[in-house]
Amino acid sequence: MLTSRPLTIACRHAPLLAQPLRRYASAAPTAAFAGQKGSNGKYTVTLIPGDGIGPEISESVQNIYEAAKVPIQWEEVSVTPILKGGKTVIPDSAIQSVRKNTVALKGPLATPIGKGHVSLNLTLRRTFNLFANVRPCVSIKGFKTPYDDVNTVLIRENTEGEYSGIEHEVVDGVVQSIKLITWDASERVARYAFHYAQSSGRKRVTAVHKANIMKMSDGMFLSACREVSKSFPDVKYDEDLLDRVCLQITQNPAPFSDRVMVMPNLYGDILSDMCAGLIGGLGLTPSGNIGRDASIFEAVHGSAPDIAGKGLANPTALLLSSMMMLRHMNLNEHAEKIESAILSTIAEGKTITGDLGGKASTKEYTTAIVDKVLKA
Ligand SMILES: NC(=O)c1ccc[n+]([C@@H]2O[C@H](COP(=O)([O-])OP(=O)(O)OC[C@H]3O[C@@H](n4cnc5c(N)ncnc54)[C@H](O)[C@@H]3O)[C@@H](O)[C@H]2O)c1
Repeated sequence: MLTSRPLTIACRHAPLLAQPLRRYASAAPTAAFAGQKGSNGKYTVTLIPGDGIGPEISESVQNIYEAAKVPIQWEEVSVTPILKGGKTVIPDSAIQSVRKNTVALKGPLATPIGKGHVSLNLTLRRTFNLFANVRPCVSIKGFKTPYDDVNTVLIRENTEGEYSGIEHEVVDGVVQSIKLITWDASERVARYAFHYAQSSGRKRVTAVHKANIMKMSDGMFLSACREVSKSFPDVKYDEDLLDRVCLQITQNPAPFSDRVMVMPNLYGDILSDMCAGLIGGLGLTPSGNIGRDASIFEAVHGSAPDIAGKGLANPTALLLSSMMMLRHMNLNEHAEKIESAILSTIAEGKTITGDLGGKASTKEYTTAIVDKVLKA
């Protein structure tokens, strides 16, 4: 339904818009897990092992969950595209599985570079309207990096902005790429960020932007954040420029541990990888794609074709993503038990994979965690 409202762009950097903007009716406030236990006492979760190292790290998660007796049964599906009506699409069986279970764990998917290949990751985001990408980065004890006090949470708008895929050639040698920002998507991700702050005990939401340059698009994103902030008087709200935030986090990440940062798509993509770098790289960084109808949890890294099939992959990022999934499903006790086994295995430093400076294979690292889980 289209509604209209007189919009005053309240951004301090932006001029007032003369025309009222049209917008879609406000989205549902947030995405909660709605799955039900089956008659065997287990929830069914869709597992997309993915490409490259995906199957190896997915197997590691499955083995650890079995040891920890997590009440989950996996429904494994492939998202290898098929031809349908002349188009490459994700198989219906995979889509139905995610829709039915409302939750999925996903390994990395390789995207061939070049014309004509759709990004499966983008397709999944659009198919399930995965509107918020949540990326926490927390220093891992025992894995030395320049800072040992990183604890950031970044929430990235996941459906539009520079990723809207609207590009065209105006005339020969001139191309245009549309950064699409809607009130609806901005408000929805802002609302999720405030909910996340409230439920995780963070006291502040900071909207990260470049509204000094993109006055209308980022200006509207900020207006949406401000309007949502009025419904959360117990959470402080402020705004900061993307470039300033990058500078400040790399100089001293500690002050950012009190807040949730929320931002448009591309800024979130870049800033979250920067935060990942502060804790030791992509091999340790989890993420969750939160949607209204389903949520998909995945590691931030790709399919690592250079080490695929060699038994060298570090499954930590997928494991930590699955911890986010367990908490999303309110299976907090299981998450804590497994997480503490992962972190203490890394902290001991005896059985860690090559990317962390160790010599262990994926299987040896997995076994070390399983042993800790069984003793817990
Ligand atoms: N979410 C996703 O599905 C996703 C994300 C990023 C990239 N990709 C895709 O993955 C493919 C490869 O991308 P890339 O090479 O740019 O990035 P990548 O993350 O796959 O690899 C970068 C480097 O990090 C290493 N690495 C990554 N994950 C690791 C792990 N778990 N353990 C140990 N080492 C690890 C790799 O060996 C490689 O040297 C591409 O097709 C890309 O499109 C998918």
